[in-house]
Amino acid sequence: MIWDRRNANDSLRRLSPDPRVIQYIGDLPQQSRRALDIGCGNGRHLRQLAEIGWRCTGMDWSNESLQQSREAITGFEQHTTVVKGDFRKTGFNGNYFHLILGIDVIHHGKKRDLERAIAEIKRIKAISGQALISLPGMRNAPTEHQADWIEKQTCILRNGLEVGIPHHFVTEEDIPVLFRTFKTVDVNRVVVPMPAGVKPLHSMHENEWFWIRVAG
Ligand SMILES: C[S@@+](CC[C@H](N)C(=O)[O-])C[C@H]1O[C@@H](n2cnc3c(N)ncnc32)[C@H](O)[C@@H]1O
Repeated sequence: MIWDRRNANDSLRRLSPDPRVIQYIGDLPQQSRRALDIGCGNGRHLRQLAEIGWRCTGMDWSNESLQQSREAITGFEQHTTVVKGDFRKTGFNGNYFHLILGIDVIHHGKKRDLERAIAEIKRIKAISGQALISLPGMRNAPTEHQADWIEKQTCILRNGLEVGIPHHFVTEEDIPVLFRTFKTVDVNRVVVPMPAGVKPLHSMHENEWFWIRVAG
């Protein structure tokens, strides 16, 4: 599977949790409730949640990621599990998770796949729950020649470490429309500086991301 190859590449492995995730979960009431990390990758956020007492589920469709996540949660198996699944159709019960993370994940597909993932988040999130999602902005998109564009704002990279993987890039205006079913939607646009010597994976202009917090 294309994702197993990508996820096995050590140079792409981000071991520490993203500081925005740490801050977000640090601001939430610290009750031991149910959290889901969609596309949990190497389990860096799953472990963070498990350490502060959340009952967590990590979901990914890559066996390589699932293996890495299992290693990351060693010692926390009593309240943390890892399952195989697809963000477009998760199979979880509705109105269930108090916290959902979708970090650098649900844009991997066509626009319709992103819409399905958002509908799933809305369905499985507890009514009182929240979700944090990051999506790449259009300024982060590759040039016409670096990728095959398969629909508006969606391409498949031709080269590099994420070759063959689809990406859908969003604009700030897209976000209220995509997340219109939630009662509150907070958007933070960030341009993430790359460490010296590291090239962005697909960036054409700047490493633009939208961090989106939804509730209701
Ligand atoms: C760029 S990584 C991000 C991993 C993690 N969220 C993090 O922040 O480190 C994207 C992850 O999403 C997973 N993924 C991609 N498409 C998926 C899908 N349709 N359903 C579930 N997982 C998917 C990949 O296997 C990969 O582990």
